[in-house]
Amino acid sequence: MKYKGMDVISLRDLDRDFLDFLLKKTKEVKEGKWQNSCKGMIVASLFFEPSTRTKLSFDTAIAMTGASMIGFSSAATSSTAKGESLSDTIKTIDQYANIIVMRHSIEGAARRAAEVANAPVINAGDGANQHPTQTFLDLFTIYELKGGIENLKIGLMGDLRFGRTIHSLAMALSYYNVELYLISPSILQLPSYYIDYLDSKKIKYHITEDFTQIGKELDVLYCTRIQRERFADPVEYEKVAGSYEISTKNIDSLSKDTIILHPLPRVNEIHSSIDTDPRAKYFYQAKNGVYTRAALLGIIAGNIN
Ligand code: CP
Repeated sequence: MKYKGMDVISLRDLDRDFLDFLLKKTKEVKEGKWQNSCKGMIVASLFFEPSTRTKLSFDTAIAMTGASMIGFSSAATSSTAKGESLSDTIKTIDQYANIIVMRHSIEGAARRAAEVANAPVINAGDGANQHPTQTFLDLFTIYELKGGIENLKIGLMGDLRFGRTIHSLAMALSYYNVELYLISPSILQLPSYYIDYLDSKKIKYHITEDFTQIGKELDVLYCTRIQRERFADPVEYEKVAGSYEISTKNIDSLSKDTIILHPLPRVNEIHSSIDTDPRAKYFYQAKNGVYTRAALLGIIAGNIN
């Protein structure tokens, strides 16, 4: 009941106790416990920005919990297209729904929604800022496949500047004793805000541009797409597009036990020939999104405890 009605906006608002509790409850949901934890409730699923995995895994999770769903998958089909403000949209949906799940292209949009809604708001991604529920499934996948998170060496690779999955995951990992390798082209390094956060939590990290030099060290290599849509200047994007590709040419620079994760969608960071390698866990990771989100909904409903 401790977390009943809570908003989930940023990893900064959370703590190790919550993450450990969520991991434990996600495991139980995956084992078949806690079905119908939101029976009789209405969950609003508001996607102002495109999504495949987050939207559809939330839809699946909502069905698993026994809740009903309302919402839209494009701002174009909502009255946003007529000029309605975000606040008015949220204040209206707050009249209908018990929980609001929202993705938006503007950083801070989820925080704003939480300020005006009585219903709890779950941030399903706000611009280049945060993507907490992606982080929950990332953590759960690492926890399952590595038997825990403590003392792991984890590489975060690709677009560390604009990648919201990276921002949330780096913060979440800082609640554990891990060692990070921040692998990116120099213009896509982790913003100073997050570096300062790692420093404040005394997390050991290394900054590098080449994963092949440190691949054997890694328990986990978490790859991300270069976020073309976040670049103001397409020329800048072209300079770094295709900076990394894991393929049969370089995969053996990883150890045989390194798991490869990716929040997806991918562009060309991981060649499809790698998909059958036992270290490639990104589709398995995507499936865990259903269990993690079902657990989160039940916790926020106050019925998983
Ligand atoms: N990982 C992720 O957020 O994917 P979608 O954009 O497809 O939801």
